[in-house]
This record gives sequence, structure tokens and C-alpha cells, in this order.
Amino acid sequence: MCGIVGYIGKQEAQQILVNGLKKLEYRGYDSAGIAVINEQGKMVIAKSKGRLANLESKLESSLEKDALKGNIGIGHTRWATHGEPSDLNSHPHTNQKNTISVVHNGIIENYLRLREWLITKGYKFYSETDTEVIPNLIDYYYENDLLDAVMKAISKLEGSYALGVVSAKEPGKIVAVRKDCPLIVGIGKDEAFIASDVPAILNYTRDIVYLENKEFVVLTSNGVDIFSLEGEKIEKEICHITWNADAAEKAGFEHFMIKEIHEQPKALRDTMTSRIVPGKSINLDNISLTKEDIEKIEKIYIVACGTAYHAGIIGKYVIEKLARIPVEVDIASEFRYRDPIINDRTLLIVISQSGETADTLAALRHAKSKGIKVLAITNVVGSSISREADDVLYTWAGPEIAVASTKAYTTQLITMYTLGLFLAQNKNTLTSEEIEAIKNDMLTLPEKAEEILKNKEVLQKFASNTYMHKDMFVLGRGIDYAVAMEGALKIKEISYIHSEAYAGGELKHGTIALIEEGTIVIALATQSDLYEKMISNVREVTTRGAKVLGFTVEGNTNIEKTVDSAIYLPKVNDILLPVLTVIPLQLLAYYISIQRGCDVDKPRNLAKSVTVE
Ligand code: G6P
Repeated sequence: MCGIVGYIGKQEAQQILVNGLKKLEYRGYDSAGIAVINEQGKMVIAKSKGRLANLESKLESSLEKDALKGNIGIGHTRWATHGEPSDLNSHPHTNQKNTISVVHNGIIENYLRLREWLITKGYKFYSETDTEVIPNLIDYYYENDLLDAVMKAISKLEGSYALGVVSAKEPGKIVAVRKDCPLIVGIGKDEAFIASDVPAILNYTRDIVYLENKEFVVLTSNGVDIFSLEGEKIEKEICHITWNADAAEKAGFEHFMIKEIHEQPKALRDTMTSRIVPGKSINLDNISLTKEDIEKIEKIYIVACGTAYHAGIIGKYVIEKLARIPVEVDIASEFRYRDPIINDRTLLIVISQSGETADTLAALRHAKSKGIKVLAITNVVGSSISREADDVLYTWAGPEIAVASTKAYTTQLITMYTLGLFLAQNKNTLTSEEIEAIKNDMLTLPEKAEEILKNKEVLQKFASNTYMHKDMFVLGRGIDYAVAMEGALKIKEISYIHSEAYAGGELKHGTIALIEEGTIVIALATQSDLYEKMISNVREVTTRGAKVLGFTVEGNTNIEKTVDSAIYLPKVNDILLPVLTVIPLQLLAYYISIQRGCDVDKPRNLAKSVTVE
């Protein structure tokens, strides 16, 4: 949902901004722009509709390059909310005098009212964006003190924002502030940065300050000062980032998605390290949930969006089966507005790769406002969700860049199993032998995932025979149905084929009407107790002409009598199979997307991190 970056220091700002935006393109990529205060003290802006590459070619022209020479600037990569992607609607936006520039991530909910009010004060508007009110509001309050004007302006804003602001009248500073959208500050030697995310500036500094809501930062080449809403100076902890920028590079793979699919064995291992150890009880870092707290829990809500929501559905099967606690899974945008029944015997689990998803964060805050404990599962240390939850379980997947989530999902599943076992251990719903057996099986998953990644031919062939189809159905029963949802999402989000997950037994209640000669069906039949039932469902569709790719575990070769081609998964405890089942589905979506010539890592209309409602 838009990426912002800012630089002030002694180096040329232009290239640093563009490099930063390259790392943030996953947040939105329908237009990009930068504003630099040049050596003559003038505000100069370059922006361009489309991918960042368009802006780069614009900047290549020597005229633009020279005009944009300067040591201070801000940049933006956009995911359109208000106004179509166009040069005009791209950020940075300025006041009419072109002295104040703003980059914005978020949504200003009262922008229409502010716009009308500013028009009565003589201001003119040129774009369709909500953002354009901000530089004009700052202009309205400006009396030779940019920080003061930004503070006054944001007191009028409703909604969410991360803002970077520069003024040609004060060419030695950037002012930034956030509310409900991520923003970090980087501190270098004689230079400072702002960015929506750490990788954007990791090539320049590893010293990061995480801003809280409505904290203001003034960056100069001498350092950064942070202020509260009341204008008081605040001392903040500087966090030193230890992970490597290379983790966010493609490392020889053609796309981030395929690289991240291949990183799963390692990510699974990393997420289990120190938590799942043979012969030792489950160790969940430092979470505060005590045995007494767990005994009190009558109901668990799991709330999330997108792929993380699908991990939550697996979590329901796992926790109910292992710990016998009722679990309800909800989409965060539904949960937050439906006045859910929660009390002090409820535990809320939120799952979010980024830790910044607006609806998930709102669900967390809703529960906390009712005094409910919140346990977060997230991949991003220092994210808003990690900071606001009572307890955090990190998935150690490493940075995930491709919009379609892969390794985040499988590590979320691992975390769900770990949590399920932890709850079972505390509630004595499983014997220690039973827990030990599942743990030992979990520890074999990375190796089994590696095995699956070696056999891609069947999937490549299936993709090349089916990529022109308009519809696909993914069927499953029990926990396979939950995996089917994630498989169908992968296919639709990166290949734009309509794909739908269906519970095997439910198909005949309407949707089977869509099955005709040649319809593509992917049937997941991995669960031993449901295998025969699933095979009957497959027969129902093959009888009507469907072409079926079946998934089952090694040994069930009789599936070949019913399906057109088969994928065999290594044997492991049934409940753990989703971690393996999803991998060929991810690969299949990837190969179909490539065959169709789609932009795998940056699918149309999507963004990796959805920080607006
Ligand atoms: C976006 C992404 C999805 C992701 C969802 C939730 O829609 O494109 O891949 O699953 O947000 O994101 P989160 O960061 O909260 O897991």
C-alpha cells in the first residue's frame, strides 16, 4: 500500500531514493515519483505512471538528472486508492507555490471536507487524490516552521498516514510522521533516512528507529530529533538490524516467488529451532500465557487476512484436534465491525506476515480495548502488530518480497502446530508420547519439502496443458479443504484464472453444475480417513468430463485409476500434510502464471502489505 522513502545528507539524493523505491515496489507499483530540493534551492519533481522503471528512464534524460541534483529528497511508489494511476495522481504532491512536497502512504478519510474548506481559502486542486490536501494544509499553517505546520495540519487529518514532507523554504530538513501506517527512521553518519520498510535503506544504514503513532521526526544531516504530539522531545531506542540485505535479493532465481518457494525448507527449520526439540517440552520463547491462563480459555478467535487467514483455518483444525479448544476463524475486516462475542475467557490470535495489515491491526486493537489477551503470529520484528500484541510468536521466514505469499504461509502453519502442541501440553489433552511423535514428524518436514521441490515435471506439464483455461476448481475435505483455499488463491492472484476451492462433499449442492467436458479440477486426497470419500467426489466430476490432477500420499497409487495425473506427497502425520501439500500448489500457480506471461512477483491490482482498509 504505497512505499515512501526520504534522504538527507551529503550524497546525491536521487539515486538513493530510486534504490529505496526499488526495494519498496512490493508495496505498490502503479506509479512512482521523487521530489528533490536541488542545488539552487528549488523543489524539483519527477513522476511517472507505471512501474519504477518508467521513472528511471525519465531520470536518465540528462536534463531531468541535472535539475534533480541535490542532497535532500523524498520518493514514493504508489498503489492507487483515490484516483486512477496517472502522472497527475502520482506522488509527491505539492502546494500551488511548489514549495512544499509530500509523500503519503495511507488514506485521509476526511479529505473531501478538507478540500472544500481549502477551496474556500483560495486553494486549487489538480489531482483526484486524498493526499493533495496535505501539502496545501501544511501551506495554510506554514509560518517559517515546517514541523509546527505539519503538526497543525495533521491535527485536522482523519484516517491513516505515513508522511514525508520537505519544504524549499527549509532545505535542510525532512519532517515525517505516522499514524497506523509503518514508518521507520534510519540513522547514518552525516545522513538520515525515512522508509516504509527496512530493506529500502539497509544498504546505507543498519541503525533504525521505529516510530510510534503520531511521533514526529525531524531529519537533518546532523541527525534526527523525535517529538511527541505535544512537541516534547523523545528519546527512542536505536535498533541495530543484523539480517542481511541479500535475503531480499533474487539470488539467481528468475522471480522472488520461486526463490521464496525454495527457501521453505530452511524457513521451516528456522521457525522450529529452539521451539521443537526432541525430548524437551515445547518452548515458546517468552510468551506470557501461563498454564492457568490456558486452562481458563473457553474459545479462541483466529483473525487475519488473505493467505494468513488461510493459515488460520488450518490453525482451527490443529488446535481443535490437539488441544480440544473451540476455535473460530474470522476475516479481520469482518471481525472488526461485527461486535464479536469476546470475554476474559477468549484468546485472540492474529496472524500477519507483515504485521502491518490495517484490518488485522484494527481487530487486535478492538480485542485489546475489551481487555482480551492478544497473541500475534508475525514475520516482521518491530512491526505494529508485534509491538501492540501481548505476546508474539515470530515466524522466521526471512523477508518475503513476492506479493503471493508462500514461505510466510508454511511457517505460519509450523507456528500453528507448535502452538497447538503447546496448548495440548498445558491442557494434558495429549500424552507426552503423542506430543513427541508429532514433534518428531514435524522435524522431518524440511527434508520432505526439499524432496517435493526436486519433482516439478508433472506440475510443469500440467501447467502447460491447462494455462489457457478460464476456470479451475480445487477440491478437498477436512484439512485438505483449508489447503485448497490457499491453492485456489495462489492460482487466481498470480495467473488471473478464476479458481475456486470447494469442500468435496459440498460440490454437489450447486457448483457441480459448472463442471463440463474439460473443466480443470485439482483434487486433494491426502487425509487417510477421508481418502475414499474424496475419491468418490473425484468420480462425480470425472463422470461429467473434468480433467483431474490428484494429490495424495506415497503408496496410494490406485488414485491413478480415477485421475488424469497424480502428485505423491511423502508420508507424515496427516495433520502436518498441509505444509507439504501446498508446495506443489504454489509451484503450479507459479508455472501457470509464467505460461500466461503474467508478472509473477507483482500481480495486477495487488500489494504485499495492505495498510489501508
Ligand atoms: C495482502 C497480500 C497477501 C497477504 C494479505 C495479508 O493481500 O497480497 O499475500 O496474505 O495481504 O497480509 P499479512 O501481511 O497481514 O499477512
